[in-house]
Amino acid sequence: MIISRIQLKNWRNFRSVDVPLQRRQFLIGPNASGKSNFLDVFRFLRDIASTEGGGLQKSVKDRGGVSKIRSLAARQKPEISIEIHLADAPGEPPGWRYGIGIEQETRGYRRTLLTYEQVWRGNEQLLNRPDDKDEKDSVRLTQTFLEQINANHNFREIADFFQSVTYLHLVPQLLRFADSIQGRILENDPFGQGFLERIAKTPEKTRRTRLKRIEEALKTVVPLSKQLEFVRDESTGRAHLQTLYTHWRPKAGWQREDQFSDGTLRLIGVLWALLEGKDLLLLEEPELSLNSGITSQLAPLINKMQRTQGRQVLISTHSDALLDESGIDGREVLMLTPNKEGTHVETVSDIEDIKALLDTGFTVGEAALPRTKPSDINRLSTVVG
Ligand SMILES: Nc1ncnc2c1ncn2[C@@H]1O[C@H](COP(=O)(O)OP(=O)(O)OP(=O)(O)O)[C@@H](O)[C@H]1O
Ligand SMILES: [Mg+2]
Repeated sequence: MIISRIQLKNWRNFRSVDVPLQRRQFLIGPNASGKSNFLDVFRFLRDIASTEGGGLQKSVKDRGGVSKIRSLAARQKPEISIEIHLADAPGEPPGWRYGIGIEQETRGYRRTLLTYEQVWRGNEQLLNRPDDKDEKDSVRLTQTFLEQINANHNFREIADFFQSVTYLHLVPQLLRFADSIQGRILENDPFGQGFLERIAKTPEKTRRTRLKRIEEALKTVVPLSKQLEFVRDESTGRAHLQTLYTHWRPKAGWQREDQFSDGTLRLIGVLWALLEGKDLLLLEEPELSLNSGITSQLAPLINKMQRTQGRQVLISTHSDALLDESGIDGREVLMLTPNKEGTHVETVSDIEDIKALLDTGFTVGEAALPRTKPSDINRLSTVVG
């Protein structure tokens, strides 16, 4: 199942968004245009649906409250709403639709309240809140049915889907200095600190198969690396990865992840994430620390892996190298353009002059990315120079 369409109202720097999503979807736009905020919608839904300490109240509180989430560009204080279509494939009619609206209680505890919660399976509406009970007891509106196991039984599939959303923005330093920060891992592990433990928890056979595939990929991109292995340190009990490097000495040497380069760690992280699950994966700027030659292989690699896994991947990026790939279709790229009324989101193949360039054989990197550069960028060096 994939998310085939998303509609947003008043979510952070977006006033209004309505776009289809493909199985592989790139998000481009200047700094602070809202790429990470866009990805955060899916993390928000995951947090609400999460059975381990999730729920609406906490998910909003973790983000600083309704007033931080509601678009500053919005006049008065309208509701924030999210609507998601789920389908088996892009462009297909949605098998499911889920929507919620939220606002803040005007008095008292100033809790987050649902303005509505709706679920559709095909054309049949399964849930339409507020219902009679909600009208009589408004405290019920502090919780979604999505987060309640007793209430979501006839749309559990949606709750399970949201729960299994993965976000990866692996920060090599946090992995490398795990001992010094004494294993303090952020909830849901957005920065990949628990990455090694995730590998450790994977059944051995699956782990071996995945590491073998990653080892093959590494051999082609990291000179001198020969072998990649998982080990558990007997004295500390900690999980580690090690690679065997060939070098001038007759005996090759093993190195653990604290000695891997940033690019090696990030590449292993991205590849593992691609192999790991079957539901939505959110990748933040996978190009970071990678050589442009490797970055240019990411789009075809994701495509290839999707043929076996079917996993939907949303990727924020600033990279020419990543998007300079003829296999990327204009529908697979969303362009975020900030303006006073909030950031505008468009599929690049719907922008006429970009489409014309794509039709004559330009890559997305050539046709669309230059648009995301600030118009007075040359000023940057003069103002600080
Ligand atoms: N409630 C809100 N209303 C309006 N704007 C908001 C709101 N919350 C956050 N923003 C703005 O969103 C911007 C940050 O967006 P985000 O981090 O998603 O950008 P990005 O495209 O990922 O940028 P980068 O490429 O630098 O990572 C900030 O400028 C911030 O002011
Ligand atoms: Mg960002």
